[in-house]
Amino acid sequence: MENIKEIQHPIAKNLLTKLRDINTTPYLFRKYLSEIARVLLFEALKEEKLVEKEIDIWIGRYVFPVIEEEKFVFIPILRAGLPMLDGTLEVINNAKAGFLAIKRDEETLESILYYDRVPQLDGKTAIILDPMVATGGSLDYALNVVKEKKPERIISLNVVGAPEGLSRISHKHPDVSVYIASIDEKLNDKGYIIPGLGDAGDRAFNT
Ligand code: PRP
Ligand code: URA
Repeated sequence: MENIKEIQHPIAKNLLTKLRDINTTPYLFRKYLSEIARVLLFEALKEEKLVEKEIDIWIGRYVFPVIEEEKFVFIPILRAGLPMLDGTLEVINNAKAGFLAIKRDEETLESILYYDRVPQLDGKTAIILDPMVATGGSLDYALNVVKEKKPERIISLNVVGAPEGLSRISHKHPDVSVYIASIDEKLNDKGYIIPGLGDAGDRAFNT
């Protein structure tokens, strides 16, 4: 699984433990998802290319390095990916956002697309945001939809994954760079990640 990077940052591990804690309220669950998304983004953009930009400073006009923020399009997978948008947009303020709503059928575990509001992505770096990769069905679906919009590059930021789902993504989408805070043990017979977070959408939105 060469394209899957399990990040080791202590801040991410600490936030993940708070997310796993069943006593974490929906408000804090969303907040920690937003914060961990920032850490994942820092890791993903560690080697990002900078371009030179001329700006006015107190002693005149100077050239300094910047990230080309307009090239980034964040794509949260609703619902559970939504809180990750806040944190990532705080870091890259001038990025764009597109939205995908995908829900898996809890009986068949098949993914269903409800809403696609992702713009055309020519020349862009698409960054998918979804905390959970269980069977990998939702991320696989999202990647197929996003690839039709022709981005230059795709990154996926995820919080917890099961080896089964991540291996599916690695085989079907070796061109996508996945950054994840933890590769957990396994899936249970209902398709939930063990130990995981439980149902991330329900926990984030108090349902
Ligand atoms: C969760 C999660 C992923 C998906 C992962 O969403 O946010 O999108 O399950 O499972 P998979 O890898 O087996 O497809 P869910 O379908 O529960 O929708 P929700 O975020 O609206 O609750
Ligand atoms: N979706 C979740 O929210 N949690 C899981 O463990 C699996 C899918």
